Amino acid sequence: MRILGIETSCDETAISIIDVDEAANSVRVLANIVHTQMDLHTPYGGVFPMLAKREHAKNLVPVLKQALDAAAMHTPGTTSIDLAQTEEILKLEPELFTAFKAFVPTIAKPNIDLISVTAGPGLEPALWVGIGFARALSLAWNVPVVPANHMEGHVLAALIAPISEGAYDLLNRRILYPALSLLISGGHTQIVVTDAVGSYRIAGDTRDDAVGECFDKVARTLGLAYPGGPKVSKLAAEARAEGIESPEPLPRPMIDSPDLDFSFSGLKTAVLYLTKRVTLDERTIKGICREAEDAVTDVLVAKVRKAIEIYAVETMIVGGGVIANPHIRQALERLAVDSTVKLLLPHTDHSTDNALMMALAGYFNTDKALQPGADIVAKGTLPIGPRA
Ligand code: KG4
Ligand code: ZN
Repeated sequence: MRILGIETSCDETAISIIDVDEAANSVRVLANIVHTQMDLHTPYGGVFPMLAKREHAKNLVPVLKQALDAAAMHTPGTTSIDLAQTEEILKLEPELFTAFKAFVPTIAKPNIDLISVTAGPGLEPALWVGIGFARALSLAWNVPVVPANHMEGHVLAALIAPISEGAYDLLNRRILYPALSLLISGGHTQIVVTDAVGSYRIAGDTRDDAVGECFDKVARTLGLAYPGGPKVSKLAAEARAEGIESPEPLPRPMIDSPDLDFSFSGLKTAVLYLTKRVTLDERTIKGICREAEDAVTDVLVAKVRKAIEIYAVETMIVGGGVIANPHIRQALERLAVDSTVKLLLPHTDHSTDNALMMALAGYFNTDKALQPGADIVAKGTLPIGPRA
C-alpha cells in the first residue's frame, strides 16, 4: 500500500511517500522531503502564520515534484483534472491552483493508494493549505484522502526501526502494554496513555507554555535566534564540556505536584529576571542554557517516572521536536533502564516535523479514509484523545 503524506501544520512544507508491506509489517520510505521556512520566520522571533501559509502555497508543488522524483514516480504523461472542482477546492489559494494545474495534468498518475494530510493540531491558515492541496490531489488521482492528527504522527515516528537503507520494521505489534507516550514539541507537552495505536487518553498536559516553546522563549531572552531549542541545547553542551555553570539556579516548576501536568512559563520568566541581574557575556549565556536545559530535563524525567509508576508502564514512546535534544534523550534512556521500561524514540531526523510521520498516520487510519476530494476541516487545537 503506497501512501503520500502531506504536512503543513507549522513552518515545514513536507511530503513523504511510503510503501507499506502489510504482510511483512514493514515500510519502505520512497521519499521524505522537508522544506523548512525557518530562516524566513527568524526575523519575527517565531512562526508568523500568514507567512507560513503563503510559503506552503508556494512550496507544495515543488516539494511534490521532488518527492515524486525521489520515489521514481515522476513520469511524464497526462492526468485529466476537473478544473472547476479543483479551483473550488483551492479558491483561497489562487497561486497554488495555478501551480497545480500547470503540473498535475502533465504527469501520469503515480501509483499511490492513499493520501494522508495533517488536519490538526497546528496553525489553521497553514493547515488549510495542505488540506486543500491533499483534496485536490486526491480528486485528480481518484484516491481516498485521510485527515490525520499531527501529534499521532509524532507518536508513530517512534514506531519504526531501520532494517536496511530506507526500509523499516513497524513496531506497532511490539508495544508491550500498558504503554505511555510523551509528546514534547513546540506546541505540546503531554503524557498520553496509549491503549493501542490509534487510541489515546491525555493523562498530563501543560498548563501554560509547551516545552519547545519554553526553549524558544529562553533562547529569545538570551538573544539567540529562532528556533532557539537547538541553540540552547548546543550551548548547554558546551557549558558542560567547559565546566561552566549558571550564576543562579532556576526553578523546576511543578516537579513535585501530585499530578502529571506541567508548567513552563515560570521557568521562562525566571530566566528573564536572571538576565536582568547579570552581565550577559558568552559564559553566562552558556551557563544559563545549561541550567535551563537541566531544569526542563529534571521536570520531564520526574513526571515520566511518576507516570511509569501510576500506570505500571511497560513501553514508553516519545515524540515531538524536543526529543531531538541529546541531553533529554540520554536522561530518558537512563530512566528507561532504571525502570526496566522499553523505550521507543524516533530517529533524530524524524523528531521534528516531517511528512513520513503523517504518511504513517494515514496507514494506521485507513479506516477513516474519505472519498476523493471530500471535505476536511482544519482544527488548530485537535486533541489526540480525551482526557484520561
Ligand atoms: O515537533 P516540532 O518540529 O514542531 C511542532 O509540532 O511544534 O517541534 C519544534 C520544537 C521547537 O520548539 C524547537 O525549538 C524544539 O522543537 N527543538 C528542540 C531541539 N530541536 C528542536 N528543543 C530542544 N533541543 C533541541 N535539540
Ligand atoms: Zn510537530
